[in-house]
Amino acid sequence: MTAATGESDAFVFFGATGDLAYRQIFPALQALVRRGLAGIPIIGVAKSDLDLEGFRTRARESLNAHGGVDARAFARMSAQLQYVYGDYRDPETFQLLRQALGTASRPLYYLAIPPDLFATVAEGLASSSSHHGARVVVEKPFGRDLASAQALNRILHSHFPESAIFRIDHYLGKEPVQNLLYFRFANAFLEPIWNRQYIQSVQVTMAEDFGVQGRGRFYEEVGAIRDVVQNHLLQVVALLTMEPPVGHHADAVRDEKLRAFRAMQPLAPNEVVRGQYAGYLREEGVAPQSAVETFAALRLHIDTWRWAGVPFYIRAGKRLPITTTEIWVTLKRPPQAVFDDAPTATNTVRFRLSPHVAISLGARVKVPGEAMVGEAVDLLAQHLAGDETTPYERLLGDALRGDPTLFVRQDAVEAEWRVVDPILSQAPPADAYAPGTWGPVEADRLVDQDQGWHAPAIAATVRGAA
Ligand code: BG6
Repeated sequence: MTAATGESDAFVFFGATGDLAYRQIFPALQALVRRGLAGIPIIGVAKSDLDLEGFRTRARESLNAHGGVDARAFARMSAQLQYVYGDYRDPETFQLLRQALGTASRPLYYLAIPPDLFATVAEGLASSSSHHGARVVVEKPFGRDLASAQALNRILHSHFPESAIFRIDHYLGKEPVQNLLYFRFANAFLEPIWNRQYIQSVQVTMAEDFGVQGRGRFYEEVGAIRDVVQNHLLQVVALLTMEPPVGHHADAVRDEKLRAFRAMQPLAPNEVVRGQYAGYLREEGVAPQSAVETFAALRLHIDTWRWAGVPFYIRAGKRLPITTTEIWVTLKRPPQAVFDDAPTATNTVRFRLSPHVAISLGARVKVPGEAMVGEAVDLLAQHLAGDETTPYERLLGDALRGDPTLFVRQDAVEAEWRVVDPILSQAPPADAYAPGTWGPVEADRLVDQDQGWHAPAIAATVRGAA
């Protein structure tokens, strides 16, 4: 195999008629074409019996449903589109792909397909000599546990060097997630308090008010822990807890995040609560007796000088009261209650990652008047979402250029699985919860009773924000 260098000169996506292509890849491609991605073949490969016109129609439908059609960019993208119809087990499919690639010698292959097909496709590419100089993009979750992630990796490594493998976790392409890194290390005031001396606990909530949205079959294979905790939320915790990166090379941040993952204690089954929303069993593609969790709450401990003894509470769920992702950091109380109006009040730092970006410091100020009585205020910085690059647009652009900074290395994937592995095999059963609630009440026992879970409110949406 030859390592990939320079910009990719073709974009090939397997699973081109699937859900991921429909929701994310076509919109990202149109945006990239609008920004100048030109002149390279864009080739969809799938098992649906379509001709090129049918494939273009599918692209248009996808854009109508996700972000809209930009007539000029769509016309350019359509001219670059090709479609290869075939079974991934059939060598003929890869011969057709080879022809479609023409003179391209540095293609980017996006495997938007179930992981059990990765080996078939990687072997098909290799046996048609289409893997030289190529890059390959794979989706999360990468494997189902540590052992299967390692096995998957061996398969990919037998045809592609690590430098050619781009593992997507789309959270890493999100502006507010990158802002966590920026905010922490571009400001001097946070560092002195960002440790066990001042921080009492950290909560990370990823709430969605919708269910599995027709993805029941996929969700049955994963559940909340594999779908968003093992990847998105552990990445967020790593960005919150890592040490400053050393140097500016592509691996500087990834090296520090790896150390953060390795410092996380493997999760203990008695510190995890799983839930399933009532009605999940009626979703299409869901097994009648399914025990898959649509909600997980857990307590994580980090074994470092900086974080020893600080609990990290994480919860994620579908059909919760609102859709938001928010980090809530509670500081320890002042050493002495000088004023007696709010003896239990604490300061907080809040990072709201969605639906819009907001960072706020919860403080107390005196209410005008003779009494030394205060009120809680929020010192707020916010960013109203503008015409931002979407995570997929950003990440596909990076992969085409060969920039691995925002992709997940194999060592990090394995470290993430080491954290969640114990709760995959010995997880407690999933308790039922009513849609529109914050999951099973059992989850309350994980957090300090005097604090409880912080419930992000819609009202936290800043005035004027979309
Ligand atoms: C995906 C999960 O990775 O992330 C989905 O598979 C989840 O279940 C989604 O809804 C959330 O991402 P975002 O960017 O829409 O908040």
